[in-house]
Amino acid sequence: MEHILSAQQFDKASLLETLDQASKMDKILAKGGSDIARGKILGALFYEPSTRTRLSFETAMLRLGGNVISETDVHFSSITKGEVLPDTIRMVSGYADIIAMRSKNKGDAALAAEYSSVPVLNAGDGAGEHPTQGLLDLYTIYKEFPNKFDKEPLNVTFVGDLKYGRTVHSLCTLLRNFEGFKLNFIAPDALQLPEKYRESQDSFGEDLSSSVLQEADIIYDTRIQSERFESQAEYEKYKGVYVFDAGKVNQMKSSAILMHPLPRVNEITQEVDTLPQAAYFRQARNGVPVRMALIAQCLGLV
Ligand code: NCD
Repeated sequence: MEHILSAQQFDKASLLETLDQASKMDKILAKGGSDIARGKILGALFYEPSTRTRLSFETAMLRLGGNVISETDVHFSSITKGEVLPDTIRMVSGYADIIAMRSKNKGDAALAAEYSSVPVLNAGDGAGEHPTQGLLDLYTIYKEFPNKFDKEPLNVTFVGDLKYGRTVHSLCTLLRNFEGFKLNFIAPDALQLPEKYRESQDSFGEDLSSSVLQEADIIYDTRIQSERFESQAEYEKYKGVYVFDAGKVNQMKSSAILMHPLPRVNEITQEVDTLPQAAYFRQARNGVPVRMALIAQCLGLV
């Protein structure tokens, strides 16, 4: 049985296959969907806030012709009565054919997989990973740079909270399967990329300088993850540390793109939305075909 727990489980061949399947799902979506998952049920367990991830998982299952059951508020869950995660998962895997789960503790998805009789897809485990987001981010780069992806060098610059930003952990791990990506990480020292995700050829900095903006082909901006800080005062130190406004984005190459997993708080001003570099809403849309491909793969339908 295939679970999707971490970006580390993918190699280049499996990534290329997933990208290809996502492209096929994009074509199926253009025709209104399919019914290959008819009779199948997705259990969506979201114990942390989510808009895009849950809705795109649910949309993906519905567009494949399947159904969805969801638990979206931990206050209404038996977890609040003291039920432990293994018990919840034993139950839900008796109701659903596949589970997408988000929770606040690193390692929860892997724990769930141990007790599940159906595939578990990690939809974000605390400050750990968010592999399905990493895959939709990779698919976005693949779609936006069709002639350069895995052929010509591309500078990917990550900006913001790289310590707690789980999407960063997953995407940088996925990019390492391909040649030609030069990874650059811009963050305050205290929020830099954890050691376990680093490699010797990476570059690191703290300043979002003009040269950083000009050299990037892809900037992957992130929100300072307020919910992971020990105190509000600690968060306040970093809030607003990098802000992409039109002045900054206009310094980027016209062929470059600005990505963000969303939600943005104040780190990209709304005036940027109409600039050609703004790719984050296209990126969010890619969540549906990618999650269709992953659900179909895990259910053995493709
Ligand atoms: C991200 C997450 O939940 O990690 N959002 C998302 O899934 N698109 C990023 C974030 O919350 O900052």
